[in-house]
Amino acid sequence: MKKGIYPGSFDPVTLGHLDIIMRASKLADELIVGVLVNKSKQSLFTLDERVELLKRVTKDMPNVTIKSFDGLLVDFAEEEKADFIVRGLRAVTDFEYEIQLAHTNHRMRPEVDTVFLTTTLQYSFVSSSLVREIASYGGDISAFVPECIEEDIYKKYGFNK
Ligand code: PNS
Repeated sequence: MKKGIYPGSFDPVTLGHLDIIMRASKLADELIVGVLVNKSKQSLFTLDERVELLKRVTKDMPNVTIKSFDGLLVDFAEEEKADFIVRGLRAVTDFEYEIQLAHTNHRMRPEVDTVFLTTTLQYSFVSSSLVREIASYGGDISAFVPECIEEDIYKKYGFNK
C-alpha cells in the first residue's frame, strides 16, 4: 500500500495541479493532497475554501483525499505515514527551488522521497498567481482552471461571471 502526498498552497487549484493530481493518483494507492496553512502568505482563498475547491475538482477520484497541514511537510508526511512526496515541475525555472526543497526534506526525514512529475506541456506555464492576475482584471481564465471553480474565482474580484 503506497501513500503519496502532493503538497501546495493551491490558491486556487489550477488545471496544472489537477493534471499532477490525476497522474500521481495512478502511481499511489492513496494520494493525499496537502493544503498548506500558509501564515507568511496572504491568500486569496481561505484554507477552508481552498480545501473545498480541491474536494470539488477531485470528487470523482476515489483514492484522492484532501487534507490541510500546518508546519513542516516532513512532519505531516510522517503523521500520514506517507511513502513519498509528489511535486510538479513545469519548467527549468522550478528546478532550483524544488531541488532545494527536496534535499532539505530528505535531510530532515530520509525515509520520505520526493518524486517529480513533469507537468503536461499545455499547462507548463500555468500558475495560481497567473490565474489570480487575469481574474482580477475580469479576463478569461477558462484555459487555466477547472470550469466548476471559475465562478468562485471571479466572485473574489467582484465579477459576476
Ligand atoms: O504550492 P507551493 O506554494 O509552491 O507549495 C510549497 C510547499 C507547501 C510545498 C512548501 O512551502 C512547504 O512544504 N511548506 C511547509 C513548510 C516546510 O516544510 N518547509 C520546509 C521545506 S524547505
